Amino acid sequence: MLVIIKKNYEEMSSEAAKIIADRIRKKPNLVLGLATGSTPLGLYKELIRMNKEEGLDFSKITTFNLDEYVGLPPSHDQSYHYFMYENFLNHINIDKRFTHIPQGMAKDIDMFCEWYEQRIKEIGGIDIQILGIGANGHIAFNEPGSSLGSRTRIKTLTEKTRKDNARFFKKMNEVPRYAITMGVGTVMDSKEILLLANGESKADAIRAAVEGPVTAMCPASVVQMHREVFVLLDKKAASKLKGDYVDTWEAKIFS
Ligand code: GLP
Repeated sequence: MLVIIKKNYEEMSSEAAKIIADRIRKKPNLVLGLATGSTPLGLYKELIRMNKEEGLDFSKITTFNLDEYVGLPPSHDQSYHYFMYENFLNHINIDKRFTHIPQGMAKDIDMFCEWYEQRIKEIGGIDIQILGIGANGHIAFNEPGSSLGSRTRIKTLTEKTRKDNARFFKKMNEVPRYAITMGVGTVMDSKEILLLANGESKADAIRAAVEGPVTAMCPASVVQMHREVFVLLDKKAASKLKGDYVDTWEAKIFS
């Protein structure tokens, strides 16, 4: 696990973009795992700039999103479909047929989840998965208590997560109660993981994930078991870490 601490959000985002761009240049048909939330917005903005100004090519890239609310149609401005197209996919030269986001309106959710897992497998697995972290240590919508071996499935959101996400909705009772999410096991099958976190509100979750015990009560802590994981933080998110994280990562990341 490589813990990289940058000065602020901007530097964290541009470093993350450098890593993703490097992987795309090395493998033009990269399979990229995408995350929603405010954390990766700076990364997406920088990748859009690289696409427009530096010709970073997404035409052969396949994407898989981590999760989606159940019951929100793709046209709903709080759906993760809407988020991904608005903030990233509409602005790069990606073939929309190669993009995958869980279908929150699927009639048969279990069948959809099986198909999603199958599709990831058929394509050869996710090369690099971008992850944010919830203040309660969740990854995607795998809330505390999620099995560390879980696969794509429907999950009930905790009240903490619903409250954290309520700022995006007009009323609390509009915040969905369920989501389809890749499982912790699905995320762990990715060849590389890039976990991003910024701001003080994530400091406790990052401490638990990086230096706490590996436990289902902090699903993000499972990344300690992954062989190729980058934890890329700003100073505030890293403020409760006790370890001494030496900045020797450049050689490793870009080798
Ligand atoms: C949601 C998403 C997660 C995301 C988390 C943190 O619950 N399902 O994938 O990591 O929120 O969001 P933010 O980056 O806005 O703090």
